[in-house]
Amino acid sequence: MKRFEGKIALVTGAASGIGKATAARLAEEGALVAGLDVADGAEFRCDVGDEDQVAAAVAAVIAKFDRIDVVANVAGVLRADHTHELKLADWDRILRINLTGTFLVCRAAIPHLLKTKGNIVNTSSTAALGSHPWMAAYAASKGGILSMTRVIAVEYAKQGLRANCVCPGGVATPLHGQFRMPKGADPELLRGAMPPVPYVGPEHAASVIAFLASDDARYINGTEVRADGGALS
Ligand SMILES: NC(=O)c1ccc[n+]([C@@H]2O[C@H](COP(=O)([O-])OP(=O)(O)OC[C@H]3O[C@@H](n4cnc5c(N)ncnc54)[C@H](O)[C@@H]3O)[C@@H](O)[C@H]2O)c1
Repeated sequence: MKRFEGKIALVTGAASGIGKATAARLAEEGALVAGLDVADGAEFRCDVGDEDQVAAAVAAVIAKFDRIDVVANVAGVLRADHTHELKLADWDRILRINLTGTFLVCRAAIPHLLKTKGNIVNTSSTAALGSHPWMAAYAASKGGILSMTRVIAVEYAKQGLRANCVCPGGVATPLHGQFRMPKGADPELLRGAMPPVPYVGPEHAASVIAFLASDDARYINGTEVRADGGALS
């Protein structure tokens, strides 16, 4: 398939995991990809939680490619704490990167996406939907992403812009591999979030993002696709 021939795709979190797989998938299907990440391995260095850096990165993408057709907000961080022990600094950091970062990139990209009648795919999580203990900050950030995406979808639909979310469950990436339950946590509490099948690699989340970003999904707007192997079913 070459669904993104002639398209410019901006992908955040492009240095690792789902973002890297998304950049590869969109490129494989013909897109020119502008990858953003705070870490080495992406073309544009950017902390998505920093307003000035996001504005500069989007301006640099426009200077290089002249347009943006697709935005995939994938950058994110996770940590688990007992809620009564969750430090405000950790709450703030997770909300800043995951939710505010997604907002800042959307805000900067929307004027360009309106010109191309492009679309946004934001990365939420099954944590936004239920069955995840110890993730008050992470789940709140991902629930906020779901709500914000619906707002964007309704607000700009008549102007030809779409916005959707992918909600991955457990995907084998560095983020997932580094997950640690908080000290003294009862692993039974996590049972509801476990898929009945083995975890898959990031290319499976990337293929959902590519679908939502493509014209195959032209009538899909303001919703989410859960890709969790049936975990929450
Ligand atoms: N892996 C899973 O099981 C899973 C499940 C549900 C949702 N997600 C979501 O998928 C997304 C990607 O996660 P992943 O599993 O590929 O993790 P990952 O750690 O492999 O990749 C995340 C990328 O985001 C980048 N990043 C972190 N903070 C950033 C910042 N401030 N600015 C720019 N880039 C930043 C990292 O450098 C990294 O390259 C995240 O939003 C995560 O919440 C992952």
